[in-house]
Formats: sequence, C-alpha cells, structure tokens
Amino acid sequence: MNEVSLTSGRDRLIVALDVSDAEKALGLVDLLKPWAGMFKVGMELFYSAGGEIVKEIKKRGCRVFLDLKLHDIPNTAAGAARALARLGPDMINVHAAGGPEMIKAAAGAAREEADRIGLARPLVVAVTVLTSIDRKNFNLMGMRGKIEDYVARWSKMAADCGLDGVVSSPEEVPLVRKTCGPDFVIVTPGVRPAWSAAGDQKRFATPAAAVSAGATYIVVGRPVTGSPDPRDAAEKIWHQIKGCAL
Ligand code: C5P
Repeated sequence: MNEVSLTSGRDRLIVALDVSDAEKALGLVDLLKPWAGMFKVGMELFYSAGGEIVKEIKKRGCRVFLDLKLHDIPNTAAGAARALARLGPDMINVHAAGGPEMIKAAAGAAREEADRIGLARPLVVAVTVLTSIDRKNFNLMGMRGKIEDYVARWSKMAADCGLDGVVSSPEEVPLVRKTCGPDFVIVTPGVRPAWSAAGDQKRFATPAAAVSAGATYIVVGRPVTGSPDPRDAAEKIWHQIKGCAL
C-alpha cells in the first residue's frame, strides 16, 4: 500500500481542477499549493490537456488524484489503469458499481505497472454513490432502499477486494469508517464551506465537519476555483481543518 503522509491540513485538502486548459490549471496549482497538497485532475482537464498535465503538476511538487472513474469490463478497466499508472498519479479511482472483478483487476494492474516501472504505487479508491445523487434520483434509477446501505456494502466490497479506500459523501463517512476501519482511505467530495453555494451537490458538509467525521481527504472544487479570490478561499479552508492533522 502507498504510504499516506498526512502532516497538516494541507495534506488533507485536494483541490479539483475542473478547468479545460493546462495553463489555467497550472496557474491554480502555483497559486494554491501553499494550502493544498494534492490536485484533482478530472475528465474535463484530462480530456482537454492529456496525460502531460499529471507530470506537470508533479514537477511542481504536488500530489495528483487522477479522477477518471474507470468503469468497464475487467480487462478493459485493467488496461486503462495500467496506462494511468504510467503517468505517476498518487491516486486513481474506479466505480464500485463496476463490481468486484473489475475493481480488483484495475487495482492489481495499476500496482503491477507501477512496480514494473519503479514508481510508487498509486492509491486505488472506489467511487460509491456520486454526491450529486439524492434518494429520489437513486430510487428513480431503480435502486431500492437507502443510499447509505449501498455505500456501506460497496465500501466493504472495495475493502475485501484490496482497494485502498473509497470516495463517499461526507454524510456517509462515519458509516464507512465504522465498516472499514481506521486505515481505510476516505475521500470526500461534496464539501461546501459555509460561504459557498451547494451547486449540484446534494449530500454535502463543511470542510471541518467532513474531517471531524473521519474523512482522510476532502475534495473542494468550485468553492475555491470559482471564488473571486481562490487563494483566500483555500487558505480559509486550510484554517478550518489544520487542527485536524493525523
Ligand atoms: O466543484 P465541486 O466542489 O462540487 O467539485 C467536486 C469534485 O469532486 C468534482 O470534480 C466531481 O467530479 C468530483 N466528485 C464528486 N462526487 C463523487 C466523486 C467525484 O463530486 N462521488
């Protein structure tokens, strides 16, 4: 397993770089790196800027969460995970809904490839239920019962398959902690400081509440990157969570 080094609030804060050009993304990294130890490259930036963006962020001394949410048949997901591992990210993810065989195949392939080329193994985490989905939408998708029951079941499945952790909403963090133990990595998006708008996030909490509930990492996008003063927004979040270092 990759070593998770958490020495200050900075290590817990992941800023989501949901922008479409590399220059803008790297400008945000340079501006925000005193307050955020990791940056999330999602589909918009990766599909626009390509894999080089991961290397550029790493060159600046920051960690990278490559959030491409792999979801396909096991062989294809494994091939994709292998390709992503070659870029040297610190964390990648898969959809838990892809099932146990897929998530195991993807995690195994990423680790093997990292070992083969002599890079540190990325953390591999499983997305449980997207934080933008509420109970009504969940039930409209044909899923019966409560979201948290699925999150608990899928988190246990991810742990049993040897994954390093999960992505879940702040609301489910205590349940995941209880189900999967103290060392399981919990990444939580759906984080909203008191001053910011919820947007499309439906299951959310403040940074301090998410960390106090047991989140390992919090992912914050628009409240920082969409702020008139992103540096100030990141600093404020850092102040709210700095006392919660592991
Ligand atoms: O702007 P905001 O803070 O809502 O950004 C949250 C980020 O976390 C987005 O990049 C989104 O893709 C990601 N994410 C999420 N819910 C998940 C998994 C990832 O919001 N379950």
